[in-house]
Amino acid sequence: MSRIVKIFDTTLRDGEQSPGCSMNLKEKLEMAKQLERLRIDVIEAGFAIASPGDFESVQLVANEIKNATVASLARSTEKDITTAYEALKGAVNPRIHYFLATSDIHMEYKLRMSPEAVLEKAIAMAKFARNLCGEVEFSAEDASRTRPEFLYQVLEGVINQGVTIVNVPDTVGYTTPGEYFKFIEGIRNNVPNIDKATISVHVHDDLGLGVANSLAAIQAGAGQVECTVNGIGERAGNAALEEIVMALKTRYDVYQVDTNIDTTQIYRSSRLLSKLTGVRVQPNKAIVGENAFAHESGIHQHGMMANKETYEIMTPESIGLKENKMVLGKHSGKHAFVDKLTSLGYTLSDEEVLDLFNQFKVLADKKKVISDKDILALVEQKQLAIPEVYSLDTAATIRLRKNGDLIEGVSLADGPISAGFKAISELVDCELTLIDYGVTAVTDGTDAQGEAQVKISDGTHVYHGRGLSTDIIDASLKAYVDAVNQMLYIKDSQSKEIQEQTSSKP
Ligand code: KIV
Ligand code: ZN
Repeated sequence: MSRIVKIFDTTLRDGEQSPGCSMNLKEKLEMAKQLERLRIDVIEAGFAIASPGDFESVQLVANEIKNATVASLARSTEKDITTAYEALKGAVNPRIHYFLATSDIHMEYKLRMSPEAVLEKAIAMAKFARNLCGEVEFSAEDASRTRPEFLYQVLEGVINQGVTIVNVPDTVGYTTPGEYFKFIEGIRNNVPNIDKATISVHVHDDLGLGVANSLAAIQAGAGQVECTVNGIGERAGNAALEEIVMALKTRYDVYQVDTNIDTTQIYRSSRLLSKLTGVRVQPNKAIVGENAFAHESGIHQHGMMANKETYEIMTPESIGLKENKMVLGKHSGKHAFVDKLTSLGYTLSDEEVLDLFNQFKVLADKKKVISDKDILALVEQKQLAIPEVYSLDTAATIRLRKNGDLIEGVSLADGPISAGFKAISELVDCELTLIDYGVTAVTDGTDAQGEAQVKISDGTHVYHGRGLSTDIIDASLKAYVDAVNQMLYIKDSQSKEIQEQTSSKP
């Protein structure tokens, strides 16, 4: 039987930390649920001490996720570790993940601590964390630039206190595959109690080597790999989950390891993340880019028709890209619709199903063929819904309903969409700047559903909205209204947080 490499997903922590990738509470929970469908081993839900919002999202994910281990990051202080545990304690499988930098440059300039003090702190915090939680992971930040003999000492010390996962990150994306292989080998050969722990790797992509370095570490014996969906993360990002997993699967002959991942959920995970963050995947991105399985040139198409393996090293179906045409029309029943939802991995309440079924019927009136992507788009749109202060009433002259009451406005601009955006911002009485806007077709054909993404700024923050419709003007205006609602929702949550903090002060 081959070795299983555990996949630790940090999309909701290291990924979410990167500019333009922030998600609200509901969105984080949706992403965590999708990660569970993907059969991730460990979900790092956030950095609990970072803010009350982060605490709340770690807690929510910890309470909702049943199969995966849920981790929270913590610095090496008792307060951080206790806060992480407080957020995690409702989880079926909680894990405290604490870290401390071990490279000379970090110890001297960032921590201003001697190596002896760092060693002592890492060990003391291991003991402290283990007293709270059955599973503790330690990360030696900037490990790849740490003096090996010192790193061995730190790892031995924390393992002696009951840490069972030791992560040795390439924090600044500096290492190379050959070097990282030897580095892992060095740990295996020189840390006397390493057999009591799993070696984990966590690699950033500054030189575009994130995935190659992660794979080299796995070849050298690493048992856990940390990564993010679509490779989002600090600076150039983290190693991309889908690339690591598909490389291990497609080149099993080389790596001889398995993962627990359901690869047919990869495409959906990537799409959901793009939708949540509004950060689109480049078309030529490996595995999940729009062109990853497109064969344009005549010679390639000819080869593919004769035998797919001439140009295809893995199938689109293996990442869940197969289009199952579901021929349901307006006369189709709810039963078939529920069956489809179940086959797509959704278990929804009766009320949610009924609402979606009604939306499906409206869509079936406009579209001949309803595909899986259409259904996914409807479900995602519903699951991400936040309280609507405004809802679009009509797209000609702009008419909005504010909490049900009709308000109307007209605005001129050089096109219907910009005129609409302008009218909405006048109606909601906010100075808003359009930061980004795009529309993508969810499905093919003239009756395709279009998904619009809008980013607006009120001068201090950027808010992201989505809209779905078979008409792109309608989708765009809905996205703009959604961004306004997101702004109001976030502002409302923030003012509640401030009120709670003030009222809890002695
Ligand atoms: O890149 C890094 O070193 C990290 C650690 C905190 C795990 O993100
Ligand atoms: Zn990192």
